[in-house]
Amino acid sequence: MENPKEVVAKSALKYISPGDVVGLGTGTTASEFIKALGASQLAQKVTCIPTSMETEVLGKTVGLNMVSINDIEKIDVTVDGADEVDQNRNLLKGGGGALTREKIVAHYSKKYIIIVTEEKLVQSIGSRMPIPIEVLPFSYVQIIRELNLMGLSCQLRSNFITDNGNYIIDCRLNQKLLKGSLQEINNAIKIIPGVIETGIFINFNPVVLYYKDGIVSEFK
Ligand code: 5RP
Repeated sequence: MENPKEVVAKSALKYISPGDVVGLGTGTTASEFIKALGASQLAQKVTCIPTSMETEVLGKTVGLNMVSINDIEKIDVTVDGADEVDQNRNLLKGGGGALTREKIVAHYSKKYIIIVTEEKLVQSIGSRMPIPIEVLPFSYVQIIRELNLMGLSCQLRSNFITDNGNYIIDCRLNQKLLKGSLQEINNAIKIIPGVIETGIFINFNPVVLYYKDGIVSEFK
């Protein structure tokens, strides 16, 4: 039986050209893309930027030329997965805890390709998965208290440290916040001292490729 993540991952190869600097996402779907890129004729013709240590190791294992984001001048295209995609192609990311590096790499990418399976398409961000927030360990209890007062219901992700040495707090939105402005929620979270980054990706204008019933389509 075909693996939907592998199928959608392979469909993203057409966005890569020889000579490209390619940002590589993190997670099970992004991993399928990394393996497909490594097995393709493009493998020796691209330079890759990892969004996590896990991705760096996998990229090297499949024979890709992995360099640091500080070693390049531009990123032509990044391919990554997502936990949720809403009607406006806003994203929720960070299920794998790599959200900060993923957001940085996405920010510097000329083209941003998101590969998902059908169930990741949602009405509103936060309806299926909690919102991951990367925070400094120093004041995480205070940050959770403040987020709870804002109407979020937050939990420390147990036994998890990010590649940046920080904690992840996973937050559910109440019904009122789910219907509210995503930008306002994101701003309110980001303003708390000690918050490093959120998994809410607004206005990145990605090309979203999704797998449904054996077919990959672009979500518009
Ligand atoms: C990691 C991420 C992943 O892209 C997201 O969690 C989707 O992962 P998967 O493809 O395994 O469902 O944001 O931080």
